[in-house]
Amino acid sequence: MSATVGAGRQQAFRATFARSARLFRAFLAEQTDPDLFYGQLAEDSAAQVDHWHPLSGALMLDVGGGPGYFARAFEARGATYVSVDADAGEMRLHGREPGPRTVLASGAALPFADGSFDVAYSSNVLEHVADPWRMADEMVRVTRPGGTIICSYTLWWGPWGGHETSPWHVLGGHRAARRYERHHGHPPKNVFGESLFPITAEAGVRWARSQRSARLEAVVPRYLPRPLAWTARVPLLREAACWNVVLVLQRRSAES
Ligand SMILES: C[S@@+](CC[C@H](N)C(=O)[O-])C[C@H]1O[C@@H](n2cnc3c(N)ncnc32)[C@H](O)[C@@H]1O
Repeated sequence: MSATVGAGRQQAFRATFARSARLFRAFLAEQTDPDLFYGQLAEDSAAQVDHWHPLSGALMLDVGGGPGYFARAFEARGATYVSVDADAGEMRLHGREPGPRTVLASGAALPFADGSFDVAYSSNVLEHVADPWRMADEMVRVTRPGGTIICSYTLWWGPWGGHETSPWHVLGGHRAARRYERHHGHPPKNVFGESLFPITAEAGVRWARSQRSARLEAVVPRYLPRPLAWTARVPLLREAACWNVVLVLQRRSAES
């Protein structure tokens, strides 16, 4: 997946093995150096979104933007960045302050008119939402015809599906949470059944294909190198192999 679209002055998106290794190293530092991890993730995510929809001049919505690490990376590529998050505490994580266009609201009921944005994006949020496809429907609704919807989420059956309770989540979310609490003396931040849900690529693809006002353009693994992109197209295998899947949809115009 080497991009030419939207490359501008920034580096084009290239899903190389080196890029995957770099992201994985940064991921290992998430707890000790969140600025490094989220900074790299933000830059990589902006490059990936730019590949699918040129960000220069685009008005974009980041649903579940959290502490706003992504704002600078998207703005550096020329986007006007609006972020929505349901949790004011998450917006201030790691001592950060919410940016100027940050809105406190639920992704399941976005406070924007139909067709307001060129791009609706969501990174690592749907797995934290009890009714993820309602939020995804909302993302489609607020995207203009011809605009792009990009949903990227962590797959339950992947190595990080249980988040901090991984890999024990494969034996059951509640059991993994109890084990975590026994070992750490406190419950996990992501509570199974409350703020962490088992979500699959299959369900996302089914949702995307059922859309009448948007067309599924691509299903790709977010972090894997291009030679492994095929894994996202293989049912069952993709649930375990992809770690995180990206669904890319284009909003149809009224006539199409
Ligand atoms: C794991 S963080 C992801 C933050 C950022 N998007 C990223 O990729 O680093 C998940 C975020 O989703 C937010 N969130 C969870 N449920 C939400 C909902 N229903 N509507 C909007 N945001 C939600 C949380 O508050 C949190 O900030």
